[in-house]
Formats: sequence, C-alpha cells, structure tokens
Amino acid sequence: MANRLPVDRREGSWEPSPGGLVSALAPVVSAHRGAWIGWAGIHDEDVEPFEFDGMSLFPVALSHDEHHQYYEGFSNATLWPLYHDLIVAPQYHRPWWKAYYAVNSRFAEAVIAVAAHGATVWVHDYHLQLVPDMIRAQRPDVQIGFFNHIPFPPVEQFAQLPWRDSILNGLLSADVIGFQRESDATNFQQSCLRLLGTSCEHRRTKIGVYPISIDVDEVLRATESEAVNEVARRFRSDLGDPATLILGVDRLDYTKGILHRLHAFEELLEDGLLDPKETCFVQIAVPSREGIDAYQDLRDEVERLVGHINGRFGTLDRSVVHYFHRSYSADSTIALYLAADVLLVTSLRDGMNLVAKEFVTARQGRAGALVLSEFAGAADELRQAVLVNPHDITGLKHAIHQAAIIRPEDARARIATMAATVGDYDVHQWARDFLDDLQPATAPADC
Ligand code: F6P
Repeated sequence: MANRLPVDRREGSWEPSPGGLVSALAPVVSAHRGAWIGWAGIHDEDVEPFEFDGMSLFPVALSHDEHHQYYEGFSNATLWPLYHDLIVAPQYHRPWWKAYYAVNSRFAEAVIAVAAHGATVWVHDYHLQLVPDMIRAQRPDVQIGFFNHIPFPPVEQFAQLPWRDSILNGLLSADVIGFQRESDATNFQQSCLRLLGTSCEHRRTKIGVYPISIDVDEVLRATESEAVNEVARRFRSDLGDPATLILGVDRLDYTKGILHRLHAFEELLEDGLLDPKETCFVQIAVPSREGIDAYQDLRDEVERLVGHINGRFGTLDRSVVHYFHRSYSADSTIALYLAADVLLVTSLRDGMNLVAKEFVTARQGRAGALVLSEFAGAADELRQAVLVNPHDITGLKHAIHQAAIIRPEDARARIATMAATVGDYDVHQWARDFLDDLQPATAPADC
C-alpha cells in the first residue's frame, strides 16, 4: 500500500501515475499479482476496487479538506521539507496532524479488511508512517514491512517534529523497516534511542538498507525499439542537431536543485565555456504538488530564470534552454535519454533518484555522462558519475563542463560500469531482498 494508487484518471481512463515509487513498485506488484491500496487521485468520490495491469487496486477516498491537510499539508509541507534537509521551512499545524492521523487510520482499516490471514503487508513511504502500528493493534497475524522512499533526517532535525514519538512508535510496529541509504537507517536508529530511549532490536524490528532500483528489462526493451530510437533522432534534429545536448528530467520540486543547475549553466555560457550556438539544455519539469506555495514559488523562479537565460543567449531561430512543464510517457523519457549527451541530477537531497539509474541503463553500450549530486541516494552506487555538491556553483560548473567535453571512450567505460551496477540489482532483486527479510518462509505480497 502507498499513498497513491499507481494510476491517475485522465480524460475518463486510468493511466500510470508519475513518480519514482510507482515506476519502481508497479512491476513488482504485477509480478506477484498483488493488491495495491491507495488514493485514486480524485477528491470526494468513492471509486470501486478495480483491476489494472495484473494488480487489484483498492481505492481509499480522501475529501477535499483531507487532501489539503493530510497530503499537501502534513505530508508535503511538514514531513517532506523536514526529511529533506529543511530546504524550505517545515510547517507544524495541529489540524494537519489530526488529518494525517485520521487518513492513516483509514488506510489501516482498508488493509485490515482486505488482507488474508497471515498476509504480507508492505507499507510505503512517509505519508503512512502510523499505519504499521494501527494494523498491528488489530492484526497480529500479518507480516508488516515499511519502506521509506525518502531520506530519514538526522535526530537534530527530526526532533523538531511535535509528534515525533507517535511517528517512531508507528513505524516500530513493523517487522522490517527499510531505508535507501545507511545514513537514513542510522538516523532512524539514533532517533529511537535518543527520543524514545529504545532500540529497534529491543522492539524486535529489523532495520535494513535496500537501495531501490528500476525495471532494467523494461528500459532495455524501450532502448531496442525502433520507434523509440526514431523519436530520439527526431528530438535531436528538432533541436537543431546541437553538438551537446544537456538534459534534466525531474518533478518540479525544490529538492531537485533545478535553479542551481540553471545558474551554473548560465555562468558557463557567460564564461564562454559552453557555446550557445552548439549547446542546448532541455529541462523536463513534471508538474507536482501545485497547490503548495513553495512549489508555486519554485515554478515562478524557474520560469523566470529560463526566460532570462534565453533572453541573454538565445537567438531568433534558437533557444538555448528548452523548458517543458508537463509529464512525458516512459518511452518518450527514454527517447530523451537516448538523444542527450549529458544528464544533470543536482538534487539538494534525494532518497534515491531513479532518473539517474534509468539514464545509465538506457545509455548502455553508448557514451553519455551523468552529473550526479552526492546528496542523492544513487551516488552511493553510481560512483563513476561526475559527482558534485550542487551548492558549490563553481564545482557544479566544472562538473557540467567536464561532462560536456568528456572523451567518448571514457564516457562509454563509465556508463558500462554504472549500467552493470544497476543491472546487478534491479527493482525485482530489491523487492525480493526486502520480502525475503520480511518473510523468509516465502508467501508473496498481498498489499
Ligand atoms: O518518493 C517520494 C514521492 O512522494 C513518491 O511517494 C511519489 O512517487 C513521488 O514522490 C511523487 O509525489 P506525489 O505522489 O506527491 O506526486
């Protein structure tokens, strides 16, 4: 179960919803023919359970107010910034907490109703941290796993949260709690010790590190498709066949460091290290959480800066930054990876970043350079990327320039190593590892 179902209703039909969690988990749930409990993305409407792509989907209803207070409020204006290095200030409001508690109980009730005796229940992400304890109270028979897709903050930051003890206790009722990085697991354990005075061992909760991955075969299938390759060629020629095509693909989120990369790019043009006649930068910014002020402010700022750079360096027949505020299908995104020379992942903090893993997989057998923030979980594994601290604009400029002029043999060798790393640990292996730890005696996930 996760906050969202893996589908959104668009123009009357169900389409896969965007985001790393869905692209990672949907193949796993389909492969197990499991059930997925989540919000259907529509307010104030009861949607009946339905089947989609080999999964049984059980919608949980949210009212307009709950969407505002539980999703936009507590999940994404309290927890999200608190868990992402306080890039914007978290807001602490008691009505939001009440809504978070109420919605978590509704999700727990949905599991309790659907899960067979002895089922495996896998709860995902920061929206649902109270659910393990709520299920445990009524269903001692089920195995409960929790996976946190985003970072877990250091205790000094987490301690700000007025409801910190309830969150820790909510999680500690899981049998297994999984994190992306060692540092997240350590931060969680320190919070339990320092704030609750208890250890995870004492509560018999296993803590593990399971870096999430991608469906490698799906990405490779797309890279082999003639149609996808044709789209990639067309993208490049529509952009005027630039010598260097730099790409960014992100949800429009302040954690992604989009402004930092635009500033660095502008300075490289200004310094004459990148030629605006031969270079173009394509930024895909997938609309996200548009009801939240910080996201609206970011959009304004990004769009202002894109206009400013094009105003300085574009010509009548050529923009230097191409910015698209929309989502792209999986195949179109892979076509963009095939068209590009350089991918920029400059997150200020990121649980993993699956775009980085998709890019190196799609570029397998080809050249291509990945500029990767050391603050993204993927940096623990993709060591052959050009690693950067995105706050250091001079260092970021150097990294982008290095990636733009890398020798093709060097680029190909680095991509090959990184693609092999991802290939050795794909999303199915990630799920197997977690589920094995949760229930060594077999049994597939039911929720
Ligand atoms: O992993 C972080 C996350 O919240 C995922 O749960 C989700 O797939 C993605 O970001 C997109 O966020 P949202 O569901 O708020 O659109």
